[in-house]
Amino acid sequence: MYDREKMKEGKATLEIGKKKIKLDILKGTEGELGIDISQLRAKTKLITVDEGYCNTGSCISDITFINGEKGILRHRGYGIEALAENCRFVEVAYLIIYGELPTPKQAQNFSLLLEKHSDLHSSLINHFEGFPPDAPPMAIMSAMLNATMCLHKELLNTSSKGKVFDNTAAHLISKVRTIAAWAYRKANGLTFNHPNPFLKYCENFLHMMFSMPYNEYVVHPDVEKALNLFLILHADHEQNCSTSSVRLVGSSHTYLFSSVSAGVCALWGPLHGGANTAVIKMLTDIHKTGKKLSHYIEMAKDKDNDYRLMGFGHRVYKNFDPRARILKKQVDKMFESLQIDDPLLEIAKKLEEIALTDDYFIERKLYPNIDFYSGILLRTIGIPKEMYPVLFSIGRMPGWISNWREMLMQKHPIGRPRQIYNGPAPRDFPIDKMNK
Ligand code: ACO
Repeated sequence: MYDREKMKEGKATLEIGKKKIKLDILKGTEGELGIDISQLRAKTKLITVDEGYCNTGSCISDITFINGEKGILRHRGYGIEALAENCRFVEVAYLIIYGELPTPKQAQNFSLLLEKHSDLHSSLINHFEGFPPDAPPMAIMSAMLNATMCLHKELLNTSSKGKVFDNTAAHLISKVRTIAAWAYRKANGLTFNHPNPFLKYCENFLHMMFSMPYNEYVVHPDVEKALNLFLILHADHEQNCSTSSVRLVGSSHTYLFSSVSAGVCALWGPLHGGANTAVIKMLTDIHKTGKKLSHYIEMAKDKDNDYRLMGFGHRVYKNFDPRARILKKQVDKMFESLQIDDPLLEIAKKLEEIALTDDYFIERKLYPNIDFYSGILLRTIGIPKEMYPVLFSIGRMPGWISNWREMLMQKHPIGRPRQIYNGPAPRDFPIDKMNK
């Protein structure tokens, strides 16, 4: 919880005609500064305009720090590199939600809670049966999160602390993995595997995805490690499109499950969590057509063409995305240890090499983002591309939960941006359309 008074660091002066008003400048723990405009409309009747919220801080948060210019990402003060090197996803989830790394006892209790809430209510099987086999798994994910609440009335709460919150959060982190695996099984005409209480978080997910009757899926340690890493690297990313959606929806005091179901929908788009699927589609297309890479680079640079180099560019990172760097290393390691040869990886590496030396990409500071290599990693694990955003949503769950909780604990007002109306001026209703 922050103390606004202690964050004040001088004033900014805004001049509107002959009027001058002073606005507080707030300073965060990493030295970043923001002008507090919360009283602007009350004092001046003016609003600010900032499409895409490129310059707007929507909250003051303790969870994640990003410095896009320097390529820094930290959760609760810990660098992403250290978390990726030393933690499992479940520990990072705990850190993001509760603020500290778990003690051994806390880790054990958290795992027990996840295990307790991992299975889906038996009635939910009927819901899955109702989806056609080609139903988009992100639609299934979003729908099933809301459906789960219909069968667990205890989830219809807005508690942000205590046992009720702990259980709701654990239901979510654990069940999202089961819903994801069942969406995959449904699409492939396979029976559903229930969670196995003796398996760890990632092993259990892979078991539910890939175990067959009388043929238990054996998890390769490198594959488990890669999946853990993928989820850790997606665990939170401050006020991105989906997290902001979760906060905005939750600000009307809607339940955690329905708020994150909105997050899933926001994540689905190709400019956000759908980018990893788009990258694989792009690389496959390049491989199939056999056209020169320069052809695709030129298309991406052409202002009259909507084509973009998927997996490149980021709203915040104007330097290498630190997550992309970590993931690329893991992909290389995995390919070596599992002796995999994937032509798409070669294409991706060459594409990156060309783009990083091209003036267009250099001038705009367009570097590979996490999605450039994450699809290749998931493909190696055997996960089909339609499922990539679903895997992203499993990873992002701790961030969504933590942001929803923080917003409630800070007692945020309901989110309600303003606009400048630029439509027709008042006009008379046409006589010929009037009721006779
Ligand atoms: N390929 C080619 N040109 C690009 C790309 C790209 N991938 N990304 C940005 N540009 C260009 C734009 O055309 C624009 O050029 P201009 O200044 O000449 O008009 C300039 O770079 C700035 O781009 P914006 O779209 O204004 O940047 P913004 O911050 O709004 O968008 C975004 C960021 C959406 C990620 C964008 O870079 C993009 O579409 N990338 C491809 C999709 C992608 O990989 N998304 C995943 C993001 S990471 C995540 O969600 C986990």
